[in-house]
Amino acid sequence: MKVLSCNNISKSYERGKYALKDVKFSIPAKGIFALIGRNGAGKTTLIRILSTQLLPTSGRATIDGIDVTRQENRLREIIACVPQEARAIGWLTARQFIVSYLMWRGFSGSEANKRAVAAAKKLRIEHYLDKQNQKLSGGTKRKVLVATVMASEAEILFLDEPTTGLDPISRDELWGTLMTLKKDHFVFLTTHYLEEAERLADKIGILDGGRLKALGTLDELRKKVKYPYCVKILSDVKIEKPKVGEIVKGVDGHYQIVTTEHEANRISRKLISKEVRFSMSPLTLDDIFYYIVKKPIEEENYAEEESR
Ligand SMILES: Nc1ncnc2c1ncn2[C@@H]1O[C@H](COP(=O)(O)OP(=O)(O)O)[C@@H](O)[C@H]1O
Ligand SMILES: [Mg+2]
Repeated sequence: MKVLSCNNISKSYERGKYALKDVKFSIPAKGIFALIGRNGAGKTTLIRILSTQLLPTSGRATIDGIDVTRQENRLREIIACVPQEARAIGWLTARQFIVSYLMWRGFSGSEANKRAVAAAKKLRIEHYLDKQNQKLSGGTKRKVLVATVMASEAEILFLDEPTTGLDPISRDELWGTLMTLKKDHFVFLTTHYLEEAERLADKIGILDGGRLKALGTLDELRKKVKYPYCVKILSDVKIEKPKVGEIVKGVDGHYQIVTTEHEANRISRKLISKEVRFSMSPLTLDDIFYYIVKKPIEEENYAEEESR
């Protein structure tokens, strides 16, 4: 089994300030791995290091035993990357763009064309092959980029925020594309759309402030959170301390109580009687993310009360 492994990767662009600090993990290079984190968390830095575009300040990483810093030419034969700001050259047609990329990778013109057509068919964009990229919709433009790396011989694909800025329909289509892709590729993607990671990823890594805070399947991440339920307070009211659980503040500014199912039910009944708007549900990746990257507002441990 192929494995991607990072051993204490650190990167500092300026003295004393770390974009990545001692990132250490090992994952099977199959399916989809999603690296999630806020802007500035270090996602792009890690993807650039793993795809041989940037050297770490310290630490080592290997993919299938190939060292990303010392054997970069060998590694480049099995990886391809779509950077965060990548755009297909506007005045080229999709076909010209894909074919020229493949010829750069060493394919003959006719082989490159065959591969471009096959990839475009798989992603259902074959009708756009002879249109100029600048005339395509945002979603199709992204698909052209994905088709480009997919048409190569690379079995490991790095996609840095492939769906950022897309409308919900195009995003949904691209998600379909990524699910197709993962059948015969390992896809390492970054995103700040937590729903995307929840829907697509076999494994998820949470990066915050350059540090890897958690890694695992959704179920494994769920287990890192002490409480399985979340009550979101949607009205602007002062909330009481729960008997069991913790209060965290979501990115939207709303307070959330993470707690047991029993306590969530009790709180819900109370909120209904007070006519406070709220929602109650098992934890989503969103809740888990904010629990892991944000310190609980209430630091006390309520475990004792829970066992009473
Ligand atoms: N070329 C650079 N020079 C200096 N600082 C940088 C450079 N690139 C990124 N950084 C800093 O490193 C941190 C991580 O950035 P980045 O990896 O782009 O995060 P993300 O992709 O998660 O948004 C940020 O604080 C960013 O400002
Ligand atoms: Mg980035």
